[in-house]
Amino acid sequence: MAGILLFLPFAVTVVAGAIFRRDYPSIEPLTACPGYKASNVQISSSGLTAELTLAGPACDAYGTDLTDLTLEVSYDTETRLHVKIQDVSNNVYQIPQSVFPRPQVGGSTAAQSALAFNYTEEPFSFSVSRAQSGEVLFDTSAANMIFESQYLRLRTKLPDNPFLYGLGEHSDPFRLNTTDYIRTLWSQDSYSVPEGSNLYGNHPVYFEQRESGSHGVFFLNSNGMDVLINNTVDEGQYLEYNTLGGVLDFYFIAGPSPVEVARQYSEIVGLPALQPYWGLGFHNCRYGYRDAFDVAEAVYNYSQAGLPLETMWTDIDYMYRRRVFSLDPDRFPLEKMRQLVDHLHANDQHYIVMVDPAVAYQDFPGTLQRGIEDNVYMLRENGSVWKGVVWPGVTVFPDWFAENITSFWNGEFASFFSPEEGVDIDALWIDMNESRRLGYRLSSRATPKVLSRDTQALDTRNGFSGSDADIRISKRQEGQQQGLPDRDLLYPKYAIHNKAAYQDDWNADKGGISNKTVNTDLIHQNGLAMYDTHNLYGSMMSVASRDAMLARKPTLRPLIITRSTFAGAGTTVGHWLGDNLSTWWHYRLAIRSMVSFAALYQVPMVGADVCGFGSNTTEQLCARWAALGAFAPFYRNHNELSSIPQEFYRWDSVAAVARKFIGIRYQLLDYMYTALYRQTVDGTPSVNPLFFIYPEDQTTWDLELEYFLGPGLLVAPVTEENATSVDVYLPKDIFYDFYTHEKVQGNGASITRDNQTWLDLPLYYRGGVIVPLRVNSTMTTTELRKQDFEIIVPVGADGTAQGELYLDDGVSLVQNCVSSITFKFDGAVLTADGEFGYETTVKVSKVTVLGLSGSTVTIAVDKLLTEAFSVEISQ
Ligand SMILES: *[C@@H]1O[C@H](CO)[C@@H](O)[C@H](O)[C@H]1NC(C)=O
Ligand SMILES: *[C@@H]1O[C@H](CO)[C@@H](O)[C@H](O)[C@H]1NC(C)=O
Ligand SMILES: *[C@@H]1O[C@H](CO)[C@@H](O)[C@H](O)[C@H]1NC(C)=O
Ligand SMILES: *[C@@H]1O[C@H](CO)[C@@H](O)[C@H](O)[C@H]1NC(C)=O
Ligand SMILES: *[C@@H]1O[C@H](CO)[C@@H](O)[C@H](O)[C@H]1NC(C)=O
Ligand SMILES: *[C@@H]1O[C@H](CO)[C@@H](O)[C@H](O)[C@H]1NC(C)=O
Ligand SMILES: *[C@@H]1O[C@H](CO)[C@@H](O)[C@H](O)[C@H]1NC(C)=O
Ligand SMILES: *[C@@H]1O[C@H](CO)[C@@H](O)[C@H](O)[C@H]1NC(C)=O
Ligand SMILES: *[C@@H]1O[C@H](CO)[C@@H](O)[C@H](O)[C@H]1NC(C)=O
Ligand SMILES: *[C@@H]1O[C@H](CO)[C@@H](O)[C@H](O)[C@H]1NC(C)=O
Repeated sequence: MAGILLFLPFAVTVVAGAIFRRDYPSIEPLTACPGYKASNVQISSSGLTAELTLAGPACDAYGTDLTDLTLEVSYDTETRLHVKIQDVSNNVYQIPQSVFPRPQVGGSTAAQSALAFNYTEEPFSFSVSRAQSGEVLFDTSAANMIFESQYLRLRTKLPDNPFLYGLGEHSDPFRLNTTDYIRTLWSQDSYSVPEGSNLYGNHPVYFEQRESGSHGVFFLNSNGMDVLINNTVDEGQYLEYNTLGGVLDFYFIAGPSPVEVARQYSEIVGLPALQPYWGLGFHNCRYGYRDAFDVAEAVYNYSQAGLPLETMWTDIDYMYRRRVFSLDPDRFPLEKMRQLVDHLHANDQHYIVMVDPAVAYQDFPGTLQRGIEDNVYMLRENGSVWKGVVWPGVTVFPDWFAENITSFWNGEFASFFSPEEGVDIDALWIDMNESRRLGYRLSSRATPKVLSRDTQALDTRNGFSGSDADIRISKRQEGQQQGLPDRDLLYPKYAIHNKAAYQDDWNADKGGISNKTVNTDLIHQNGLAMYDTHNLYGSMMSVASRDAMLARKPTLRPLIITRSTFAGAGTTVGHWLGDNLSTWWHYRLAIRSMVSFAALYQVPMVGADVCGFGSNTTEQLCARWAALGAFAPFYRNHNELSSIPQEFYRWDSVAAVARKFIGIRYQLLDYMYTALYRQTVDGTPSVNPLFFIYPEDQTTWDLELEYFLGPGLLVAPVTEENATSVDVYLPKDIFYDFYTHEKVQGNGASITRDNQTWLDLPLYYRGGVIVPLRVNSTMTTTELRKQDFEIIVPVGADGTAQGELYLDDGVSLVQNCVSSITFKFDGAVLTADGEFGYETTVKVSKVTVLGLSGSTVTIAVDKLLTEAFSVEISQ
């Protein structure tokens, strides 16, 4: 009996699996795919075009094979090659220019290019190699190309055991796994940001590091995809794209240094937006402040503890029943909110609140009604608004492609966040924009069960339900890249590894891509399907929100922190690393995730929730994290409703650590600001993994627990619980201890730093990189900007050093007068040269040279930062 009882559920599982499970691709259904044949190849100096035709009977493995394609190859720049394969009829969905403006096509020639394109006619494949050496970087002969209505495959051969980075957003090792590895790109809310899972954002770019140099490959595609990396006996080492739609649109970038790859990538996705100076101050938030008094008390407590709080945040607590654009009248009444904001502003502090995309269906009249009148919500096929469930209950979702969306979103911001009558926020936090919804899968297009009778009534009152509905969905237009007709937009046959669809239930339909999100069969007002645009939702909300913030205050740089991003998001927003946990694993993860966003994806305003968001932090973890977080561009303590409070003042020890490291951060703030500015000018990363600075040192290629902030400050924290020591890898170069100025010769080996109390975090200057420091730290960045500078000159191996300092007013969108100062030390004289347009009374009051004849030389000076100067260093 017992045996049977135990066996039965197992048998049921197997049967259910056989019926409902869509299998992951095995070789079987794809071996019959015939590939393509190239013909009518037209070669010009700047590129090539060809026709591609299906080379045999269709295999129709996960959709319908397309028979006629075009190939377009363009030498865009000397270091960038563009390869695009699309349908002849131009119907297959492509990311709209309005969402992702393409870089200029053409402009260079095969003769000038660092990259060479080659192809084989049948079966069609192509390769990209370095023109000079002939080294092949990408070679699709690894498998037949497949281009179907709902599935595309392209595989490249790679050298064994490659050093690959990117393909985010993920929590996997910084250097990507090389065997049996799947990276899924499909935005999903990812509480606890687990390893091996698709997360909030999508950045389909990888960097590859080889002895011969570094290059990058960007796949411009927003459809759900699995990127497989594997090494098998039969197939060798490869990387394979498996995507549910779009076209094969690739940008190859030549480097050859990793920093050059980063800069060249920024030419494609756009340069990041410069953030307001104050945005680099310390931020505090928590989910679960009871009321406006509680928030005010936290501000007060920070002040009492002598902790510089630059910006206070409020999570969804402020909303009336979690509805966007509303205030809880009892707990967060307008009058108190305005007093709170006034108080903060009077003290040179700032205020930020959260905005979610989903609009409460109950909120009538108000935002809901205005949006219905303006026709800006995602609609069902019959023209009624599509409803999901988010925090407030039943909600509707903005359609960022709706014609009226800008005026609607700007209007909501203008009134709710009115400086005169509303909540006068200084910046913005946007969340849930994976188009996240809770539970309740609506596969049958049924109304969610949770709809109350009231809202059912509402539905009827608006005449938006049933067959009478005014069908307002625009028709798909031919030849306009709006997506092929007759696709299964909910259950594509090829099953990407969307964690939301299978993590809790292996018997669930793994092909489902609408779990936890707005249904993918919805059609936007411009005719595009959510199936194709899902991964863009967060970035589109970011753009709309930046516009709305600019409409409120046109002269100020908007600071917006978002959860979901797509390639290019850095041009409009920053990113916090989502709902992490208060664990040591997440503390270590914070480093590689930050480095990835800043250095690889060009989203430099980035950082993790300090002390951890979910679960309870510990005093020790919070102390270590308060120190570590001080060296991320975005520095915010934030935690969850059910967790114990973790503001830095909650423990004397943590407060002491935070005071010390906020102090150091603030002294370094202009160095950090200058590095961020540099990135907005030419894409040079403001945060660097070690191999970006020392690419020739192979040991650095998989280091992920230490990094450079800017070009010259090595950050190497203690990374284990209870540990008081850390092994710091130092490449062969000269370093100087940040605190003692002691010279340390790096030997391409690790040194052990012992006795690291919570108040310690190893920091090193890199020889050769000049760092400007504010002489004093202060309680606000407004005060900080009045402090003088000490110029630290850590002399490099060749006896010289250089660095830069960028100064502007810190807040204006358009800067008329800036200073962009270059410091050079030639072994005897320090010169400051460049542009001195920014009016200031701030001086350089001290110059400290490290490493001259083995000692430190400090000279008091009095040089206004309004004109060039030089200082002789007498040894
Ligand atoms: C291009 O590929 C063909 C094989 O398809 C090969 O014979 C030829 O040598 C390649 N040319 C270059 C320049 O790599
Ligand atoms: C990698 O290859 C092995 C051996 O063929 C196979 O068992 C495994 O499923 C493959 N993994 C992926 C992610 O393709
Ligand atoms: C990647 O490799 C590491 C180390 O071998 C392993 O622990 C981890 O599970 C792998 N991750 C994935 C997502 O395969
Ligand atoms: C502020 O500090 C007081 C006194 O320590 C404490 O009772 C209160 O809970 C704190 N409030 C907040 C919001 O931190
Ligand atoms: C835009 O809004 C106006 C009224 O607010 C409405 O008349 C018009 O139809 C809307 N446009 C679309 C495309 O629905
Ligand atoms: C995804 O959808 C399937 C099918 O409705 C369901 O069984 C499963 O629980 C869902 N998973 C999640 C995580 O919502
Ligand atoms: C966090 O601590 C609180 C208070 O001690 C406790 O109620 C809660 O269960 C803890 N949470 C977790 C995830 O351990
Ligand atoms: C750290 O020390 C505490 C207290 O002794 C202990 O409970 C914990 O397990 C230790 N952690 C590790 C990773 O050893
Ligand atoms: C660490 O501290 C202990 C006690 O203060 C001291 O004896 C020891 O020499 C220190 N070790 C190092 C490497 O500084
Ligand atoms: C800066 O600090 C120095 C010494 O630490 C002090 O003498 C000076 O008054 C401070 N300057 C300001 C403007 O706070």
